[in-house]
Amino acid sequence: MAIRKVALMGNPILRKKAAPIPVEAIQTEAVQQLVVDMVETMHEYDGQGLAAPQVHESVQMVVMLWNFDPEAEPELKVLINPKIKPLTEKASSYWEGCLSVPGLRGLVSRPNRISVEAYDQNAKPLKFEAEGFAATVVQHECDHLEGTLYVDRIQDLTSGFAFNREHSRYLVSPEDPTNEDE
Ligand code: NI
Repeated sequence: MAIRKVALMGNPILRKKAAPIPVEAIQTEAVQQLVVDMVETMHEYDGQGLAAPQVHESVQMVVMLWNFDPEAEPELKVLINPKIKPLTEKASSYWEGCLSVPGLRGLVSRPNRISVEAYDQNAKPLKFEAEGFAATVVQHECDHLEGTLYVDRIQDLTSGFAFNREHSRYLVSPEDPTNEDE
């Protein structure tokens, strides 16, 4: 196990389209090691999610801490080669942060409900729907696989981009559930 170094905005790897992982390669030692390292790195940095390009691996994998349902135990979600589709015209705005853009937050509007298809870390096909902030986290992570950062999607830089401290102080209560980095 190893904590990997996180690539920061400006590093070209964050702007590259990540390659799909062949399904038959998912259970290889190299891919399994990447899963373990990404989970460890996400926890080390207190992230809500992490995409492989953020640890300098340009492949289509994201890990997320799935703690959006207060009734259920938090669980880990690993998505390999994810495909997402919006299920509604309705958009929701949340403050997003990113381990590759440390210290900052931005207000981003995204479809409120999506369907997700992917493989998990055992090469099992997954299909589920996500809504609200969970949908935002999935879309933020999948954006990383396309070379897109949340900062590209901030609609109003004047009122929708801030340092964490100023964000908590002036823009939103510190208990806001979106105070996690992705
Ligand atoms: Ni991110």
